[in-house]
Amino acid sequence: MKKSVPIKQFWYSDIVVFPKIVTIITTVNEAGKVNAAPYAYFMHYDVLNKNPRIFLGMRKFTHTYQNILKTGEFVINFPSADYLEDIMETCRFYPEGVNELEHTRFTEIPSQKVAPPSIKECGQIIECKLNKQYELDKIQAHIIGDIVALVFDEELIDLGREERFRRLNLPIGLGDEKRKYFYFGLIEKIEMLALKPPPKDDAPEEEIKTSMEWDPEAFKELQNIPAAIRQMVVEMSEDVISEEGADKVTYERYMKLVEEFAPKDLQNRFDEDADD
Ligand SMILES: Cc1cc2nc3c(=O)[nH]c(=O)nc-3n(C[C@H](O)[C@H](O)[C@H](O)COP(=O)(O)O)c2cc1C
Repeated sequence: MKKSVPIKQFWYSDIVVFPKIVTIITTVNEAGKVNAAPYAYFMHYDVLNKNPRIFLGMRKFTHTYQNILKTGEFVINFPSADYLEDIMETCRFYPEGVNELEHTRFTEIPSQKVAPPSIKECGQIIECKLNKQYELDKIQAHIIGDIVALVFDEELIDLGREERFRRLNLPIGLGDEKRKYFYFGLIEKIEMLALKPPPKDDAPEEEIKTSMEWDPEAFKELQNIPAAIRQMVVEMSEDVISEEGADKVTYERYMKLVEEFAPKDLQNRFDEDADD
């Protein structure tokens, strides 16, 4: 039998099992002093965007939040599971101005595009600049950051996804009990499943509805896209084009959109014979 439980503060970490990636965010204060702390309330903010952003949720009175507001920069470091104790050390409530990294095995190295340092032992690093902050209430805030650099240990870059994941060995935050006992999981088994092409059925193709004029050549190009997603592509294209103030889908504009949003390797996944 199912049973509901009371919805309490910290429901996301002490009752609901809500695995999240664990990062260490490095910042500097106005005097240039380094701060580091673990943050797991972190996600990419957009999809399909060539100006990518990230999203963070945190309490407003953390040193990390204060430093981000004051200096506008931060670095998201992805530590491996070999460093769980060091991750927890950066979580301790040290006074403002204390560099938590000095109490760990982590080594500071200069970042590529921002002032806060990166952590050498982290094979994957995202450097960010503050885009916006939203103060939700007296306690909580959301941060949107522009990604200014994606930095990897060089030897990881050309590895396949599974091997890269194995080498990074990222721990998964599994929440805590009583805000004191923090749980982490390690991923030991990875499975890969291929996305099948859209089904080819014999039903008559749905008529495409457009809300603006299309160059006949652009409309012809559209037929190269699987029928199942053609209407969605029409709507996305018209949306972008009308936001630009135009009222017609020209061949040139359409092909630029295809190049931007669906480059050849993305389209190939619908080709049943393609074997990457
Ligand atoms: C695994 C883990 C994940 C955490 N994630 C967050 C988070 O996403 N948001 C937050 O406000 N605090 C989070 N915390 C708590 C902060 O790390 C903690 O309050 C820290 O002392 C803040 O340090 P600071 O004041 O130097 O920024 C997390 C702690 C741990 C151990």
